[in-house]
Amino acid sequence: MSQLSQRPAQAIVGQRHRHESAAAHVTGTALYTDDLAQRLSGVLHAYPVQSTHAHAKILNLEVAGAMNVPGVVQVITAADIPGVNDQGAKHDEPLLPVDEVMFYGQPVAWVIGENLEAAKAGAKAVSVDYEPLESLITIHDAIDADSFHGIQPVIQKGDWDAGFEQATHVFEGDFEFAGQEHFYLETQNSLALIDESGQVLIHCSTQHPTETQDIVSHVLGVPAHEVSVQVIRMGGGFGGKEMQPHGYAAVAALAAKLTGRPVRVRLDRTLDMTMTGKRHGFYATWKIGFDDQGRILALDASLTADGGWSLDLSEPVLTRAMCHIDNAYWIPNIRVSGRVAKCHKTSQTAFRGFGGPQGMLVMEDILGRVAPQLGIEARELRRRNFYIEGQDTPYFQPVRHPDRLEAAWQQVLDSAEVADREAEIAKFNAANEYSKRALALTPVKFGISFNLTAFNQGGALVLVYKDGSVLVNHGGTEMGQGLHTKMLQVAATSLGVPLSRVRLAPTRTDKVPNTSATAASSGSDLNGGAVKDACEQIQARLAQVAAGKFGVPAADIRFAHGKVSALGKSEELEFDDVVREAYMQRIQLSAAGYYRTEGLHWDLARMTGSPFKYFAYGVAASEVEVSSFDGSYVVRRVDIVHDVGDSLSPMIDLGQIEGGFVQGTGWLTLEDLRWDTSNGPGRGRVATQAASTYKIPSFSEMPEVFNVALLDKAHEEGAVYGSKAVGEPPLMLAFSVREALRQAIAAFGAQGRSVTLASPATPEAVFWAIDAVRE
Ligand code: MTE
Ligand code: MOS
Repeated sequence: MSQLSQRPAQAIVGQRHRHESAAAHVTGTALYTDDLAQRLSGVLHAYPVQSTHAHAKILNLEVAGAMNVPGVVQVITAADIPGVNDQGAKHDEPLLPVDEVMFYGQPVAWVIGENLEAAKAGAKAVSVDYEPLESLITIHDAIDADSFHGIQPVIQKGDWDAGFEQATHVFEGDFEFAGQEHFYLETQNSLALIDESGQVLIHCSTQHPTETQDIVSHVLGVPAHEVSVQVIRMGGGFGGKEMQPHGYAAVAALAAKLTGRPVRVRLDRTLDMTMTGKRHGFYATWKIGFDDQGRILALDASLTADGGWSLDLSEPVLTRAMCHIDNAYWIPNIRVSGRVAKCHKTSQTAFRGFGGPQGMLVMEDILGRVAPQLGIEARELRRRNFYIEGQDTPYFQPVRHPDRLEAAWQQVLDSAEVADREAEIAKFNAANEYSKRALALTPVKFGISFNLTAFNQGGALVLVYKDGSVLVNHGGTEMGQGLHTKMLQVAATSLGVPLSRVRLAPTRTDKVPNTSATAASSGSDLNGGAVKDACEQIQARLAQVAAGKFGVPAADIRFAHGKVSALGKSEELEFDDVVREAYMQRIQLSAAGYYRTEGLHWDLARMTGSPFKYFAYGVAASEVEVSSFDGSYVVRRVDIVHDVGDSLSPMIDLGQIEGGFVQGTGWLTLEDLRWDTSNGPGRGRVATQAASTYKIPSFSEMPEVFNVALLDKAHEEGAVYGSKAVGEPPLMLAFSVREALRQAIAAFGAQGRSVTLASPATPEAVFWAIDAVRE
C-alpha cells in the first residue's frame, strides 16, 4: 500500500477540473432534495405554527380548528412523538415544546396538508394561549442575569501575572460582535418516504446524515437500521446543516409514519431565518501585555458566546474559538476562559470556521486597536509576533511549518506590490480630505481536524463493475464545496483509471454507516483517505490477477490511465480486461475503505493536547477606500496567498478561497442581524428575516481586483496526496478588509489615534468611527 501523501506521476489529483456538477448547477438541471418531491405524487406538505413570544408558558394548544380546514390531514404536537421528544445532541432541545416556548418563532406544532396552502391555512387555525415569561434577548441580558449553559472551559499556559509584570505596555478592552445568518440558497429541506415494511427513507439536505438518522430514529423510537438518510447535494450548508436539519427530518419522518404517505418539509426563507440557528455573536473582554519591541508577553481574555435557547454545537464552537484566539501569534503566557450565554433566541450553531473566526477576530481586533498606541505599524506588529519553529500553542500543540506563514506573507508583500501601493496611498490621503484609502495585511492559521478525536474517521464503499466502470460511495456530503469532484479525482488516481470511468453515488447511510459530519473542513482528508484505502484494496487484488497474466510478481504491476503494465514488459493490458478476468477468477471487486487520522489527542477537561493534524495558513492584503460623507466604502483590491498543501483540485480550491473570503467579508462588513429588543409584543423576533433586510454580498461588493494564488511548495506529509483542507480557513482572510477599514478611518484623525470599530463594520458603523476619530 502506498503512503497516504505520496502522489504518483501524472496523477489525476492536482489537475484542474471543474466541479462535477458545474454544468448542472448553471443550467438548473441539478436536483436538490425538494426537486425529488416534485416528481412524486401524493406528497403531503408540512407547515409550522410558530410561537409569538420569546419566552412563555403554553397554557393551551387547540388544534381542532386546523382539522376543520379543507385539505388538512394531520396536526403534529409533542403528544404525537412515539420516541424521545428531542432534536439535539445534548438532549436539551425538545422537537416540539410541551409546556414552554423558548424563542420567538419556535414551532409549537406542525400542520400536515394535501398542499402547502392547506397546511398554512391549518397552521393559522391552530390557537395557542400563552402566559408570557421574562425573556433574555441580548448577550448582555444573559450575562446580567447570570444565564449560561454547558461547560465553562479555561485554557491556561505559563504565568500570566508575571507576563503582565514584565510588560512595558498593557492594554485592556472589550469587544462585542455579531453573528451571521447562513443564507444558504437552498433552505432546510426534508422528504420522508415509508416503504411497505415501515422502513423510513429520508432525503435530506444535511451535512450530517448519520446524526439525522440517529435523531430521527430516537424521535420515532425505532432502531437506526429502520431509518436511511440520503443526500444528493445541498445548495449550501456552511455549517447551518450540521445540526439544524435533524428536527425537520424528524417532523417529516413522523408525519410520514402517521399518515403512511410521503411528507415534505421545506422552509421558505423567512421560516428558515426565524427558526434556524446562526453563527454565534460573542462578547469578549481582554487584557494584553507587550514588551518594548511589541512582542506579546501575556493575554488574559474571556469569551462569551451567544448560544441561544439550547446548546446545539455551542460547546465545541466555544472551544474552537478559544483554541484560535492566538491566530498566528505566539503568546507565552495566557489564560482564556469561555462560557455560553443562554437566552431566548434561535439556538446558534456551526458556521464556517466553527468559532475559529470569532476567537481570531478578537486577537486581530486587539492588534488593530493597540498598534497606534504602541507606535508600531499594524502590519509590522502582526509579523513580529508570528509563531516560529519550536513554539507551541496555548493548548501545547507544537506549531509545525510556521515558515509557510512567513513565506505566504512575503509572497503577498511582493505580488501585491505593497511597498509601492502604500506610498501611493499616502499621496492619495494627503491630497483628499473626504476620502481615505488604506491597505492591511492579516494572517490566518487554522487547525484542521475535529477537536473531538473520535470524529476524525471516514468511510467509503467502492464498487468496480464487470465492465471496469467504478462507482464510489463515501461518507461525505456535497454542498457545493467540490468534495465529490475531489473524491472522483482521488479514486481515479488511486485506481489508475481515467476520471470518466468513475462515478459518484449520492451519500447514503445504508452504504457507508456511522459517518462524521462533513464539517471542520476535513471532508476530503477523511473521506479521501477512506476512498483511497478502498481503491487500493481492490487494486491489490487486481495486481495479483495481472501478475498471473504477465508472469511477474504483483509488486511489479503498475496501473495508470486505464492500462495495466508490468515492470520490464512492453505489452499492456486494459484495466477493463483485468477486471473481467478477476471476476472470472471469483475475485471480489468491491471494498469498504476506512481512514482515521492518527496522532491526535485532546483533553477537554484541561483544554490541552494536539487536536489538529496540521494548520492551514493564508495571508491576505486588502485595500479599501472610505468616504467620510456617509461612511461608504469600496474594496479596491485583494491579494491572497493561501496554503492548501499540494492541491487535490486547484480550480475547486480557488473557488473555495474566493467564496470563503467573500462570505467572511459579508460577516464583518454587511450582514447585520437584528432582533427586536423592545418590550413590545414583538420582543425577541428576528427583525432581519428576508433578503430585503439582511444584506449578503453580491457582485457589487466584489473586490475590484481580486488575485488569489496557492502557496507553492506546500506538500503536506501525512495527508491525502499531500493536500490540505480548504473549506473554512479562507473565510478568515476577510479580517484584512476590516483592518483596512480601521486604518482608513484612522487616516481621518490625528496620527496615533486608536480606532474602535463595530462588527459588522457597516457604512453606518464606519461613519460613526470616523466621527469619533475626528474629535
Ligand atoms: N462551500 C460551498 N460552496 N458551500 C458550503 O456550504 N461549507 C463550508 C466549506 N465550503 C460550504 C463550502 C464549510 S462550513 C465546511 S466545514 C466545508 O466546506 C465542508 O466541506 P469540506 O470538509 O469538504 O471542505
Ligand atoms: Mo463547517 S462550520 O465545519 O460545517
